[in-house]
Amino acid sequence: MGSKNISMAVIRRLPKYHRYLGDLLDKDIQRISSKELSDIIGFTASQIRQDLNNFGGFGQQGYGYNVGALHNEIGKILGLDKKYNAILIGAGNLGQAIANYSGFKRAGFEVKALFDANPRMIGLKIRDFEVLDSESLEDFVKENEIDIAMLCIPKNGAQNIVDRLVNVGIKGIWNFAPIDLEVPKNIIVENVNLKESLFTLSYLMKENE
Ligand code: NAI
Repeated sequence: MGSKNISMAVIRRLPKYHRYLGDLLDKDIQRISSKELSDIIGFTASQIRQDLNNFGGFGQQGYGYNVGALHNEIGKILGLDKKYNAILIGAGNLGQAIANYSGFKRAGFEVKALFDANPRMIGLKIRDFEVLDSESLEDFVKENEIDIAMLCIPKNGAQNIVDRLVNVGIKGIWNFAPIDLEVPKNIIVENVNLKESLFTLSYLMKENE
């Protein structure tokens, strides 16, 4: 819980630092100044220094940052030094697309099962999974130490599923359903909304005309 008093704005930038530093490592670049990092990430050098100072700096005057060490530290801050077990609920178009992407597992987020309520979907094979009946959700979560639920169902019924998941000790919800979920304070919900992102694109394009 070390990052409790870190602002959300900084936390939202950390995955980006992690990704760019990972790209640098792939290119065998071991050392970088905040100015160079600024040129590739697009945040100002002073923003970068300020952000990273929140976690004790990592940089050295006149040397810059050790890319590997910084990548590693930010990974730890983001909790990426752990593995997470996930389940996916709603094996429709979106759910299948997410289940078919191998990058989440490589990043440490492994989908252990897919669930759906539609009898026509149950038993269907998607990637390595047979879609399970969402009636059996609770047992699976309890027996398989599931940390995260990826919610890919319509908003109707989403809160009900979430209440059930909370009852069996889910810790985090990656929510694609367009609804503000109600959860106890100790449960984390991260909402993803592609349409909102598209609307931002539309706004910026309009401004650009
Ligand atoms: P879909 O209709 O292809 O799939 C939804 C699946 O969820 C169906 O297989 C259905 O049987 C199942 N389902 C419905 N209620 C359920 C419940 N209570 N328990 C278990 N399974 C249940 O729909 P699609 O295109 O995959 O979209 C799913 C949801 O994701 C929609 O609500 C849509 O608004 C949302 N969505 C969100 C995006 C985002 O960026 N946040 C992007 C695309 C879709």
